[in-house]
Amino acid sequence: MNLILLGAPGAGKGTQAEVICKELGIPTISTGNMLRAAVKAGTEYGLKAKAAMDAGDLVSDDIVIGILKDRIKEPDAQNGFILDGFPRTVPQAEALDAMGVTIDKVIEIYVPDEKIQQRMSGRRVCLDCGATFHTDFKPPKQEGICDACGKELVIRKDDEPETVKSRLKTYHEQTAPLKDYYKAQGKLTTVVGQEEVADTSKLTLEALKA
Ligand code: AP5
Repeated sequence: MNLILLGAPGAGKGTQAEVICKELGIPTISTGNMLRAAVKAGTEYGLKAKAAMDAGDLVSDDIVIGILKDRIKEPDAQNGFILDGFPRTVPQAEALDAMGVTIDKVIEIYVPDEKIQQRMSGRRVCLDCGATFHTDFKPPKQEGICDACGKELVIRKDDEPETVKSRLKTYHEQTAPLKDYYKAQGKLTTVVGQEEVADTSKLTLEALKA
């Protein structure tokens, strides 16, 4: 099954992707995590992407489409994948269609903008394996340490309140039109993000089976 998780920054796409990954045994492909890894490693496209990411803007379509195209050719993605953070513009969705990728379902996780700021302020991430935590809603077993790989947890640079505002604006202008794109194909299901991570997971898994 090939899935897309759609939703505003901080809506919980990465969190639910981890749950679906365990349930279906297919990998999560997060363009955000791949770009952050490239920035950390100082690769050519990491250097190009950094300024846009720090400002809460989108990285150019050609860079992101290029990394996605390479990633979905890898052996672990041949039985299906979960796309988290891609596509983010209509040209990216069209590029996916042009690659001959069939998308089975698109799940939108809807969370109002007011709640997003609160979630971002408590988010802690592992830059090594990409796992996501929250100081209140999903605390790690040991403060500051990733449950999955034992590395240090950090605050993402783009989780500053002003950058979050800019990311939300970018989402509404450039990514939200994808809802109509996939609605027209009969593939879109919307799940309302709940206060508890487990409640959202239950609704997301139900949406997958529907
Ligand atoms: P990316 O990493 O994709 O960021 P994003 O879409 O802004 O999404 P986030 O990772 O911020 O949030 P999320 O929805 O995964 O939420 P999470 O599960 O962490 O992209 C970063 C940047 O890279 C972009 O700004 C752009 O510059 C660039 N980029 C990436 N892809 C691109 C593309 N295709 N094209 C162009 N540029 C691209 O949850 C958030 C917090 O809330 C966590 O702490 C979590 O524990 C908590 N939480 C989750 N669910 C709940 C719940 N139900 N209740 C309470 N707390 C919850």
